[in-house]
Amino acid sequence: MQVMVQILTVLENISRSVAINGLLTWEYMESGVDLNLVSASVQQNPYEIYEKLRSKDPVHRMRLIDAWALVSYEQIDAVLRDQKRFICRDRNIGYSNLRTLLDFDPPQHTRIRSLVSKAFTARALAELEPFIQQTVADLIEQIDNRERFDLIESIAYPLPVLVIAKMLGVPARDIDRFRSWSDMVALDVEPMLRSEDVFSLRQNMNELLEYFEERINEHKLTPQKDILSTLIKAEDDGDRLSHEELLGNLVLLLVAGNETTRNLIGNGMLALLRHPDQLQWLRNNPDRLDSAVRELLRYDSPVQLNSRMAAEDVEIGGKNIRAGAKLILLIGAANRDPEIYSNPNQLDFSEPRKAHLAFGRGIHYCLGSVLATMEARIVFEALMSRFPRIRLASEPVRRKRVALRGLKELWIDTT
Ligand code: HEM
Repeated sequence: MQVMVQILTVLENISRSVAINGLLTWEYMESGVDLNLVSASVQQNPYEIYEKLRSKDPVHRMRLIDAWALVSYEQIDAVLRDQKRFICRDRNIGYSNLRTLLDFDPPQHTRIRSLVSKAFTARALAELEPFIQQTVADLIEQIDNRERFDLIESIAYPLPVLVIAKMLGVPARDIDRFRSWSDMVALDVEPMLRSEDVFSLRQNMNELLEYFEERINEHKLTPQKDILSTLIKAEDDGDRLSHEELLGNLVLLLVAGNETTRNLIGNGMLALLRHPDQLQWLRNNPDRLDSAVRELLRYDSPVQLNSRMAAEDVEIGGKNIRAGAKLILLIGAANRDPEIYSNPNQLDFSEPRKAHLAFGRGIHYCLGSVLATMEARIVFEALMSRFPRIRLASEPVRRKRVALRGLKELWIDTT
């Protein structure tokens, strides 16, 4: 099987690059701009191509993945709020067959969301805060006066995994396995994947599902005070959350909660280190940390895009979009829209900004927004107080991803 995959990969790489170039040329001839979301330069810095799209073709036909890309804040906001004309069902993303909250429209979405929300009440989050504080303190302790450390490896990577593992009742002995499954299944949200990645994604997904089945059985025998027990109870209360829905949403919580929060901590700290004046401002105004985290989410959004499907023929920005067409909503671009934000490419904590779209909008608005913001706030607070001087030690290393934009390494100098 492995050999077969390798042969397929070689053949695929050759035919792929020919096909990709052809489609991109077609796209460019049509609109004066081409958008290749898997190109290395776009993954390094998507903001340049967003600007090009904004000036040349803000409602852009992507021939490569047969979808429409939007960059304007107002248009994306309107699409996300209009759950009748823009739906999630059958939008044809994802390589696994799992259905999660993100794939449902009302009325199923309303029912499942109200059940999953039980795990995110203000009380549940307040109970989690001391655990997050302690975990961050322990992780910083392990850095142990080192002059240089990699923020991703030391804190941004382990913290969200430990938090979600705690919420889902995953025992400490399984954290490493859980961590690697989480990384692999997160590929499910990328708009384009190579066949070897699809193969590996499916293999990891199956292992993870088997693992969740074991945990569910365990929790059924001995209920705990965690999300998993809350969701199992929702499954047991009549036919409200089916077994498939339970499994799908456990995977969603893992994927939605990990890499995104890691990216917020990594991208956020990088932005702070690249703007020493803003970092100093924050040290002088620690009570403004929450609004600073919002600005960091806007400035370099951990999730750069989401998608919808047109349920009927619609017109957006003078373009006719057919029922069934896929829309790629570039929320990372919307968050830098000059129509909405003055100096959008500037990180600026001092001025109140209009609410960003980094957590989405409308009925699918991120369920974990408060949790993620809490984790980032606690990390930034702890790092600023523990290290009076921090600066970038070397150029950061970016992950080769586009939907989930984040860093692989971020070395910090504390001297
Ligand atoms: C900085 C971190 C995070 C970012 C940037 C983020 C971003 C997003 C976005 C953009 C959406 C909307 C997707 C759409 O409209 O198609 C979303 C939905 C969601 N997020 Fe987050 N997220 C983050 C952290 C978390 C965490 C920590 C959790 C849970 C542990 C979580 C759970 C969810 C869930 C369950 C949904 C689906 C809600 C629904 O469909 O009703 N997220 N997130």
